[in-house]
Amino acid sequence: MKHQSVKQLLSTSPSNQNVCVKGWVRTRRGNKNVVFIAVNDGSTIHNIQVVADPNAFDENLIKRIQTGCSVSIQGKLVPSQGSGQPVEVQANEIHIYGEADPETYPLQKKGHSLEFLREIAHLRPRTNTFGAVFRIRHAMAFAIHQYFNDRGFYYLHTPIITGSDAEGAGAMFRVTTLDASAPPKKEDGTIDYDQDFFGRETNLTVSGQLEGELGALALGLIYTFGPTFRAENSNTARHLAEFWMIEPEMAFYELADNMDLVEDMLKYLVRYALDNCKDDLEFLNKMYDNELLQRLQSVVDHQFVRLPYTEAVEILKSSGQKFEYKVEWGTDLQSEHERYLVEKHFQKPVILFDYPKHIKAFYMKQNDDGKTVRAMDVLFPGIGEIVGGSQREEDYEKLLNRVKEMGIHEQSLWWYLETRKFGTVPHAGFGLGFERLILFITGMANIRDVIPFPRTPLNAEF
Ligand code: 4AD
Ligand code: MG
Repeated sequence: MKHQSVKQLLSTSPSNQNVCVKGWVRTRRGNKNVVFIAVNDGSTIHNIQVVADPNAFDENLIKRIQTGCSVSIQGKLVPSQGSGQPVEVQANEIHIYGEADPETYPLQKKGHSLEFLREIAHLRPRTNTFGAVFRIRHAMAFAIHQYFNDRGFYYLHTPIITGSDAEGAGAMFRVTTLDASAPPKKEDGTIDYDQDFFGRETNLTVSGQLEGELGALALGLIYTFGPTFRAENSNTARHLAEFWMIEPEMAFYELADNMDLVEDMLKYLVRYALDNCKDDLEFLNKMYDNELLQRLQSVVDHQFVRLPYTEAVEILKSSGQKFEYKVEWGTDLQSEHERYLVEKHFQKPVILFDYPKHIKAFYMKQNDDGKTVRAMDVLFPGIGEIVGGSQREEDYEKLLNRVKEMGIHEQSLWWYLETRKFGTVPHAGFGLGFERLILFITGMANIRDVIPFPRTPLNAEF
């Protein structure tokens, strides 16, 4: 008999029809007259209740039904006698695929810490918490594609192995097939990458932006959505060495258009979660963070503040607040500053723009003041920076000067520079950190808990 998901069964109207459910047992309880088995198959946060008459089954079989074991159960779908669920299954046949020994199964008991669950990343998806987080993660990925597709953007696949360093800042992971213990050397003693797989030095990408720009300057509106890699040794609750980024790039967009798009997109995604992930969000709201739903709604309801960096610095300096890092015009804002602006001062999301040029990447459009660039960062409550973006410098000479000033190897960017020689246009884009978005939507506190297999310094076991 073909089985149905728990999600399907819970929304089916019961009329004693025969059904089959397959999944993992969450709990078994009861007495010598009746046994209740809660089965979950990951399709929803809710379990389906199976009711069995222990006298109709082999005693040994009932004993083997333990938390964590996998089962296939056939029976009748009936209205539930108890409260808490609309329907239940009256079991006729129970088959155990695989047992889970209660002595050794790590999830036998509820209430493990998130830290402990990180050490069993192979099993943690079976908990309610991670089921909820990963279902929401899926829904957000789907909604992102929906959002862009509906607005005429094309999904462009930018390379994961690259010969360029988009941000010019973050440390990169080298990709090589050379023998690490005896690499070929040039006469001057340096490693001879001419003999490497690609005949040059290559790395894992830190951003798809530069290639994304090439796409936008041909297709108009594009976005990338893929994994990016940064070998920064930052062991924080907001950084991963491997994270996913959404990077739209738009020809003929200026900074204000970029801000309009990012605000509209973020609101769309939050609204999508509220509309489509209700059960999982309610669970997380109840278990972890009872202001979650309210915080999500407030992002949808309020206009984001748009604030020049220079004014932000003035607000921070006159705030009377004690910060660990001192703020002066020209310093990069720390997450304590960003969160003060968002959580205390404005109490809504903030788009900061027009940053000092020396703290931002080479490709950002230079303002006439000679000091600032058309950068924008979106700051979110509880998160700090969730998006970084800018209008791009479209003037060939200005861009080249900036490349030289910053000591970037201009030959390695010849193809990027050439787009400013042939049919250059104003354009803009941004990067949304997917895990930072999921942190915000789920209310989880650590970025390691919103990606199935987190990559952080000294951690790549699973
Ligand atoms: O601000 P970033 O470095 O911007 C770029 O990479 C641009 N090329 C984007 C663009 O304009 N197309 O990174 C963008 C976002 C950050 O705002 C943050 O949300 C996320 O990516 N991010 C990280 N997320 C997790 N772990 C890390 N180590 C991250 N570094 C950046
Ligand atoms: Mg940034």
